Amino acid sequence: MVKYTPPMGWNSWNTFAENVNEQVVRETAESMVSNGLKDAGYEYVVIDDCWSEPTRDANGRLRVDKKKFPGGIKKLADYVHSLGLKMGIYSCAGPLTCAGYPGSLDHEFEDAATFAEWGVDFLKYDYCYHPDSMHGKYLYRRMGTALANCGRDILFSACTWGGDATHTWIDQTGAGMWRSTGDIFDSFESMRGIIKNQYKILSYGGVGCFNDMDMLITGMRGKGHVGLKGCTFEEYKLHMSVWSILASPLMIGCDIRNMDSETRELLTNRGMLAVNQDARGARAYIANESDLFGVPEADVSPIFCRLLDNGDIAVCFTNLRDDAATFPLTTEKMGLGHSCGKKLVCNDIWSGESFEIQNDCLSFRLEPHTCKFYRVSVK
Ligand code: GLA
Repeated sequence: MVKYTPPMGWNSWNTFAENVNEQVVRETAESMVSNGLKDAGYEYVVIDDCWSEPTRDANGRLRVDKKKFPGGIKKLADYVHSLGLKMGIYSCAGPLTCAGYPGSLDHEFEDAATFAEWGVDFLKYDYCYHPDSMHGKYLYRRMGTALANCGRDILFSACTWGGDATHTWIDQTGAGMWRSTGDIFDSFESMRGIIKNQYKILSYGGVGCFNDMDMLITGMRGKGHVGLKGCTFEEYKLHMSVWSILASPLMIGCDIRNMDSETRELLTNRGMLAVNQDARGARAYIANESDLFGVPEADVSPIFCRLLDNGDIAVCFTNLRDDAATFPLTTEKMGLGHSCGKKLVCNDIWSGESFEIQNDCLSFRLEPHTCKFYRVSVK
């Protein structure tokens, strides 16, 4: 199956890690429906690491931990499907997963068969303990081939953290998304590091194989497994804006059963989601890149733009710096020459306000760690 838009869903790792269990997954799936996340497009409910027994059964098959998942994965997947959602699970390209549970090395076909039998729709495939003697591309081709032959449509989510120049080979493996970064943590510094990692690989994620900037920390507010000091509302807004315009998969990481209304509004904002899910599939670019030459690394702050299906342009001004600064952008850099005579209608995605400009420069003074996210129409 070709994925035309970035996958959306929820993943257990950021909040629950080894404490994931059947009740959490059932309740999360239920609240995905009742909180309006399903209506907004979130569909995969993914169990990350720590779901299995520490050893395989006598036939070499993976076994679910019955203390955590008393009903087994098949029954849980049936329930998730009954809510109109999809079931995801996790394994690893090495002999062990990152948390030390059995991985799929040399068991690729039997594990793909097990997942298909259980009704799984998504496999996150990690990179811990991969053998040094084998390049990652061979390991991911193996699982990609196994999934393509398992008789079920299973979205292959590769998680190599961008290692071994993943972007140069991952779309040969059948993966529908690929992790381009190390693990996210719930702090602005972690988010900023991930954004800065993207500058050189913006052209590599897109339709069919999306660049996964890792699970969302929105709404974690310092709680859960990767919950460091947490972020402010404005920082979470910047997080959503950048993940949206760069077409990253949107996999929620907070405990949605207990999320506050601000978090819900950030996750379900239709304008933000429309940019993320835009049908043209054009890559985003850094529109102010020529202003960034020679600028000290700490002062670099990108203005991302992306041409959308209906001809609008998404524009995200970011201030990743720790001080306030002004960010100018000539419309030339957005694809509108001086002589085009066009008026721009700028719709603020978060506030809903709009204004028009006819001159050839947009400029904003932004407080540290904030952004402005516009959908600009050309009239
Ligand atoms: C790695 C991945 C994380 C998570 C953990 C599970 O660190 O990058 O996203 O899946 O393993 O152990």
